[in-house]
Parts: sequence; structure tokens; C-alpha cells
Amino acid sequence: MKIVIITGSSRGLGASAAVECARKGMGVVVTYNSSPDKAEAVVKEITQIGGKAASLKLDVGDTSSFPAFRDAVAAKLQSVFDRRDFDYLVNNAGYGLFNPIATVTEEQFDGLFDVHLKGPFFLTQILLPLIADNGQIINITSATTRVATSGVAPYAAFKGGLEVLTRYMAKEFGARGIRANSIAPGAIRTELGGGLNDEFEAMLAGQTALGRVGEPEDIGEVVASLLSNENRWINAQNIEVAGGYII
Ligand SMILES: NC(=O)c1ccc[n+]([C@@H]2O[C@H](COP(=O)([O-])OP(=O)(O)OC[C@H]3O[C@@H](n4cnc5c(N)ncnc54)[C@H](OP(=O)(O)O)[C@@H]3O)[C@@H](O)[C@H]2O)c1
Repeated sequence: MKIVIITGSSRGLGASAAVECARKGMGVVVTYNSSPDKAEAVVKEITQIGGKAASLKLDVGDTSSFPAFRDAVAAKLQSVFDRRDFDYLVNNAGYGLFNPIATVTEEQFDGLFDVHLKGPFFLTQILLPLIADNGQIINITSATTRVATSGVAPYAAFKGGLEVLTRYMAKEFGARGIRANSIAPGAIRTELGGGLNDEFEAMLAGQTALGRVGEPEDIGEVVASLLSNENRWINAQNIEVAGGYII
């Protein structure tokens, strides 16, 4: 059984990815930051469809917690999956914050940086010895790296950094057969940044060739698919999954 760790999979598109990976036969480590109950609900859903899952607490913005997280991962791998390593890491955890450049505070900037770029970098570094050869890393970025959307400059800049980092991961980990790709979602119906109101949704749908916003499953299924062996030659790519957003 292949095993995937998906950060921030207690809610939103990470939760969908967790369930879709389980449907494809993967064991799943769900991580949560502030929603343990929702993480448990995801684990329960996976168990109910015949899959195997466990949940762990992780704050991606706090690198000092990573050594303890790595040890907790190793213990779960052993106790739940009878493994000493895992196969796939999906760096998905994140949050939205709307504030134009003119008023962004240093604290807001640092918070976004810690979760969207520094965290994925050092989490991948510390978990790398536990990732099996021929594994894969998927970094969840954003269509805002291609289209400038007012009010999300630091977020988009760090997601852009994560896209570049993805290519360096592919370069440096390729010798072990480990692929690295990023998936850049367009607007997806989740609680990110407070969620969508009707007016915002209508605007985004109008900017999308397929005429609607995305649902979590529109991304979750792509994550699960990209991890599978049929896509083994896709490497070092950024794949926008956005229904044709502002084209
Ligand atoms: N929704 C969109 O339109 C969209 C578009 C492009 C990209 N994305 C990206 O997709 C990813 C998932 O977003 P989403 O839309 O699914 O958001 P969401 O519904 O708000 O869920 C966010 C998830 O990330 C976790 N999380 C937040 N801060 C964290 C932290 N400091 N440490 C660890 N986990 C943390 C949350 O965990 P808890 O609830 O347990 O705290 C939750 O599981 C993010 O990276 C986001 O930037 C989303």
C-alpha cells in the first residue's frame, strides 16, 4: 500500500484529496492544525470506504515543531501501516488573506511566508529521509501566480516561490526517482480566506471558461491521479487546474 501525507487535509481541497487518494488504494496521513474533529471525520470517512488513515497535528508555520512531527510520523507509519517510510508528500496547508500591498503589515507578510514557502521547504527537508525512493512531492500553489489578483500579493509571491522550489526539488530528488510537481488551483469552493459570497462567485465563474468555480473534488481527484503510476513521466511541472480561469 502506497502512503501519502497531505498537510492541511482536515478541510477543503486537502480533505478531498485525502479521500480520493484512499479511493485509489493509498493509506493516508491526514494533518490538521486547528480542526482535530474535522481531521477525525476525514479519517472516519476513509475508514468507511474501506481505506486506512491516521491523523496528526501539524502547524506548517512553526518549523520548531517539525522534529517532533517527524517522530510522530515515524511512529504512525509503524503502528498504523507497518512501514518505516512513506511514498508521497502533498504540501497543501495554507490560508488566504486579503490586503493590498499598500497596507500589508510585516507580521502578515511573515505569517504568509512561514506557511506557504518556508514551511513546505523545511517540512520536505526533514521528511525527506522518510520518503521512499520513487516517491513524489506535490506542492499546492495557485493560479494567482499567473494572474495578478489584487489583494493577495505576498500569498501569490510565495506560491510563485513554491512553484520554483518544486523544480529544484525535482532536480535534486530525481536521482532517487522522486518526482516533484505543483498543482495550481483556480478559485475553489472552500473556506479559504472566508469563502465565497454570491457576488464573488458569480464574478469568478464569469472569468472561467467552464463557467463555474471549482469544487474541492476538482482538485482532490487530480492530486490522487498525479500520484498514480500512469502519470509517472510527469515531473517538474506546474499544472494549473482551474477550468480555464482568465485565459
Ligand atoms: N480554495 C481556493 O480557491 C484555492 C485556490 C488556489 C490555491 N489554494 C490552496 O489550496 C490549499 C488548501 O486550501 P483550501 O482552499 O482547501 O483552504 P481551507 O478550506 O481553508 O483549508 C485549509 C487547510 O489548511 C490547514 N491549515 C491552515 N493553516 C495551517 C497551518 N499553519 N499549519 C497547518 N495546517 C494549516 C487547515 O487546517 P485546520 O482547519 O486544522 O487549521 C485546513 O486543513 C492552500 O494552500 C491554498 O492556498 C486554494
